[in-house]
Amino acid sequence: MSLLKVEGLSTHFITRDIDNQRRVARALTDVNFALDTGRVLGIIGETGAGKSLTAQSICGLLKPPARIVGGRVTFDGQELTSMSPDALNRLRGSQIALVVQNPRSSLDPLARVGDQLVRIHQAHGRHSRAASRKRALDMLAAVGIPDPEGRARAWPHELSGGMAQRVLIAMALMNDPRLLIADEPTTGLDVTVQAQILDLLRNLVQRFGMAMMIITHDLGVVAHYCDEVAVMFAGTIVESGPVKRIFSAPGHPYTRALIGATPERRRVGQGGAQIGGEPPDLYNLPSGCPVRLRCAYATEVCASPPPERVMTPGHVVRCHHAGDLDARGSVA
Ligand SMILES: Nc1ncnc2c1ncn2[C@@H]1O[C@H](COP(=O)(O)OP(=O)(O)O)[C@@H](O)[C@H]1O
Ligand SMILES: [Mg+2]
Repeated sequence: MSLLKVEGLSTHFITRDIDNQRRVARALTDVNFALDTGRVLGIIGETGAGKSLTAQSICGLLKPPARIVGGRVTFDGQELTSMSPDALNRLRGSQIALVVQNPRSSLDPLARVGDQLVRIHQAHGRHSRAASRKRALDMLAAVGIPDPEGRARAWPHELSGGMAQRVLIAMALMNDPRLLIADEPTTGLDVTVQAQILDLLRNLVQRFGMAMMIITHDLGVVAHYCDEVAVMFAGTIVESGPVKRIFSAPGHPYTRALIGATPERRRVGQGGAQIGGEPPDLYNLPSGCPVRLRCAYATEVCASPPPERVMTPGHVVRCHHAGDLDARGSVA
């Protein structure tokens, strides 16, 4: 049984305009994937594809008007989507930990680093303060922070960006999570620090026996640090499976274009090698395949929802034409 299972997850933003007309942005549509302990899954897609929203939907951190309208999320056999907010809160911060981009905004500027780590430990279990302090120092050491004792006394503003990100990871580890979700954990850090943090995360998965989901728009991150990948476009996972397999034999025209446009560590849709064309309007998604307006292979059949086609075990492609792509180019 997978540690995390996401089935048919759909999340919408439901609002009313000034004429009281209902407006629906279909931000996630029928998202499916599973993640096992010891594995690292990369979620990749251009800005606005729905990556962060997927994480927030899993963790129960959606803010109105966003709402899960279908599907379910199962963690270790428990269904999160029907869990009470209190129960979900307990799970989050202990068994499921989220590391977000921009560590500074996630740290309390008015509390010393060590006290923040202790606080999160105490909030999720009965521990003596001494035990929590020891755990805090151990976790600061585990994330490679030199002089943990000194750092524990530091204020957040005294930390560099890379140090702050490490502190945030230490915080996520305090309660021994089984699933770590890292949402663009290294965006904005310089390349050397990025590599150190990602090496660290990868390493922690092995050491602590966790599962990890890395959200990124950087294909290089997927290639170097992930076992599996899910490619998102307009709120849909268009392709997922083992990284090696997908890089060597991408089955979806969009994935092909991504990889073709990205021989090295280029980025998707953030000033790097962007695939041309506008992302579709979530208030007015085309019927069927969301990629079809930009796709060289699109035919009439693409106006109906593409089925999930299993190419090889674990390698799933959501495309009517999967398996018979030729050299016709791919996605404009
Ligand atoms: N309040 C809102 N109403 C409608 N759409 C929204 C709202 N907030 C975010 N979105 C849309 O949800 C989509 C998914 O966003 P997000 O998950 O943050 O993307 P990613 O993390 O992949 O860059 C985006 O296209 C964004 O425009
Ligand atoms: Mg995001």
